[in-house]
Amino acid sequence: MSLTTKVFSRGLSTSAVRMAAIKNVTVIGGGLMGAGIAQVAAQTGHSVTIVDQTKDILQQSRASIEKSISRVSKKKFKDDANAGMDFVKKTIGRIKMNTNAEESVKEADLVIEAIIENLDVKRELFGRLDKAAKSSTIFASNTSSLPITDIAAAVERRDRFGGLHFFNPVPVMKLVEVIRTEETSDDTYNSLMAFSEALGKTPVTCKDTPGFIVNRLLVPYLVESVRLIERGDASPRDVDIAMKLGAGYPMGPFELLDYVGLDTTKFIMDGWHEKFPDNPLFNTSEKLTKLVEEGKLGVKSGEGFYSYKK
Ligand code: CAA
Ligand code: NAD
Repeated sequence: MSLTTKVFSRGLSTSAVRMAAIKNVTVIGGGLMGAGIAQVAAQTGHSVTIVDQTKDILQQSRASIEKSISRVSKKKFKDDANAGMDFVKKTIGRIKMNTNAEESVKEADLVIEAIIENLDVKRELFGRLDKAAKSSTIFASNTSSLPITDIAAAVERRDRFGGLHFFNPVPVMKLVEVIRTEETSDDTYNSLMAFSEALGKTPVTCKDTPGFIVNRLLVPYLVESVRLIERGDASPRDVDIAMKLGAGYPMGPFELLDYVGLDTTKFIMDGWHEKFPDNPLFNTSEKLTKLVEEGKLGVKSGEGFYSYKK
């Protein structure tokens, strides 16, 4: 299906017809989310550059992509090992790595930011990129909880700025939340919707509201689970078993907290609590703070609520 047909099939604005397809994508931040976003973009034929702070981190991103892409390949080409190897080789071949963000955005049609959940750091980054990228380049943030409008305030191109919120693990989770601010243009919004579909994802649209759709419901549930164990009502393991077997969730809240990252969850909750101190749903948890201070960030650090050390 052509891009134009696809756009019309969703009943989007006719101005979408004018938009250029996104081919070159730069992903800033090669951690849990950035590596996954880069992988899916490369799998679907886009040229991708991943940017991170050091070559060592980029090496880890590459290793995690290689592991994940081989899982995807085994599933997709279970009866044809050669086609699977070709798919892996082509996907990896579409991914470049760079530690210089300004250099890496020069040819980008779309820049997706997936760095630490901190407003000042994201704004500083986008301020620099705004001067380095072509005027047509679209900027998007994968923030879990920060207002897109506040991040976009750091750039001139606010009409070419939106939210593209992916879910962990990106190669598996089918949803993308597309966030438009008051200033996001129709062309930009339509490009972000079409790009999400080109990745094989299902996009939904949300206003620039705290936590968008999923996290506004999910994060208070996760932190309430921590408060439940703080009260001594049940153990993390029993809460996890209860939510999997009693509510049909694929992971219990403590497994999911460890999977998402306790630091990321804490950044989200702290930010909302500061903005909305009277909303008890956004109250933080001492236990979460303590674990983060101890460097127990979940699966990525080897320990969180559970231990992942071999
Ligand atoms: N890369 C590629 N494939 C992967 C993968 C990865 N990183 N992780 C899992 N898979 C694939 C596996 O290969 C497997 O495929 P098959 O079924 O074809 O064999 C399939 O996914 C299931 O994986 P597993 O059998 O290893 O494990 P599972 O059945 O327990 O599923 C899970 C793992 C998909 C992560 C599942 O537990 C799940 O859906 N968990 C909930 C995840 C969730 O809620 N994510 C959202 C977090 S919130 C967020 O992301 C937003 C934010 O801003 C914080
Ligand atoms: P992460 O800690 O795994 O990775 C962040 C990466 O960004 C690290 O590799 C770090 O070195 C890099 N980085 C930090 N500052 C940088 C800079 N100035 N320039 C280049 N690279 C920089 O974090 P993550 O879980 O991938 O989260 C990234 C973003 O995605 C956050 O905004 C988070 O809220 C959001 N998010 C996270 C999840 C999740 O489940 N973890 C889901 C959806 C969205």
